[in-house]
Amino acid sequence: MADTLTITDNRTGRQYEVPINYGTYEDYGASSPAIDLRKIKGSEEDFGLLSYDPAYMNTASCKSAVTFIDGDRGILRYRGYPIEQLAEESSYLEVAYLTLFGELPTESELAGWTYEILHHTFVHENVKKLMDGFHHDAHPMGMFVSTVAALSTFYPEAREVHDADVRLKQIHRLIAKVPTIAAFAYRHSIGLPYIYPDNELSFTGNFLNMMFRISEPAYDPDPVLERALDLLFILHVDHEQNCSASVMRGIGSSHADPYVSVAGAAAALYGPLHGGANEQVLRMLNEIRTVDRVPEYVERAKKGEFRLMGFGHRVYKNYDPRARILKSMASEVLEVTGRSPLLDLAMELERIALEDEYFVERNLYPNVDFYSGIIYKAMGFPVDMFPVLFAIPRTAGWLAQWLEMLQDPEQKIARPRQVYVGKDERDYQVIEKRGV
Ligand code: ACO
Repeated sequence: MADTLTITDNRTGRQYEVPINYGTYEDYGASSPAIDLRKIKGSEEDFGLLSYDPAYMNTASCKSAVTFIDGDRGILRYRGYPIEQLAEESSYLEVAYLTLFGELPTESELAGWTYEILHHTFVHENVKKLMDGFHHDAHPMGMFVSTVAALSTFYPEAREVHDADVRLKQIHRLIAKVPTIAAFAYRHSIGLPYIYPDNELSFTGNFLNMMFRISEPAYDPDPVLERALDLLFILHVDHEQNCSASVMRGIGSSHADPYVSVAGAAAALYGPLHGGANEQVLRMLNEIRTVDRVPEYVERAKKGEFRLMGFGHRVYKNYDPRARILKSMASEVLEVTGRSPLLDLAMELERIALEDEYFVERNLYPNVDFYSGIIYKAMGFPVDMFPVLFAIPRTAGWLAQWLEMLQDPEQKIARPRQVYVGKDERDYQVIEKRGV
């Protein structure tokens, strides 16, 4: 069997042979180069066929070796490693290294990497002043997006995106400074003084310190919460070509520096259709209020009156593997923070929905957002901080996508085509002749 497609143009009767390309993992993602369609023309003057794909529902924009997802089977792997194993055995910083550089670090590589990250956590005092300028009730995600973009002005050498050493330096800075900016945004929004990083603590221990320390001389993070946050960060590192990763690649493809590119990606994450769903889960659970009202809400969802937030996924048509991991972690966290009625509600909602024919038939399973919001809330994070918490680990994923894009000889500046449906050429009319 030849690995080609034969396309017959019924307008002209001509036939075209188009190659089928395979990815390296079995035949997952077999594709054909869309540019070959351009050869198919109704006449010599014709521009040639374009593929039309709003929202890129069936367009591969790159070849990537970072993250593998099989939504039908509920599989998520970073660089080939199953998310379950990474969640069980690894740490966020190790997973960030793996995602960025392709292999798990050796002991000395991990020590060097951890040192670099933990020693780039401070921000310039002028960054603090910049953040002071935000209004008292500024949304922390708006502050986060703007401040990350502003880092571009502090590190102008970051523009040298083709210099590997310069790139690595900005990667250290970005991964290290995003928790500081996130915590400063939170402290500003509640009028508390900023807490400077403590480089003796772990990555997540320091983040908890910068968020929650009040007057203690040294902050001592709860090990269960420190680990829970680390696990949440592992689960959110990357998810291949989603909306924000595509934005990262799109901005980066013009060779803009990584600070403005990450800021753009974070802006994409800010939207409720992307990073904001866990907030919606909390709002829904608060509205349902008591376990006995769950069946009524499930019925309403079935009638199409509203959607069960945290259920369903564009890619996963099976249990989201990240949701499964978070479900078991939620109980551990709540043992420390105190039992939450929200978790009981969530469990009951999940139990009823998973038995219901409507949800079974449509492959509607809980997604990662179903449990993450409950855990963040139990840990004391306000709902406004949820997208910011997502952006901290996803920064590593965005940078991995950015690095891969810059080093891929097949990539160019991202520039989709359009199907023009406007007016044909017409002559300019002076204003007196345009009528009323
Ligand atoms: N509750 C009730 N019914 C649902 C839900 C839901 N959460 N999700 C999908 N359905 C139903 C639809 O009504 C539709 O039913 P029909 O065939 O009778 O018309 C069917 O399931 C298919 O739904 P689509 O909208 O076509 O599925 P799509 O893949 O486009 O949507 C999405 C995926 C947007 C995530 C959707 O499931 C949803 O809105 N879920 C709730 C919001 C949410 O949790 N988002 C977080 C996603 S995870 C993340 O971004 C990190």
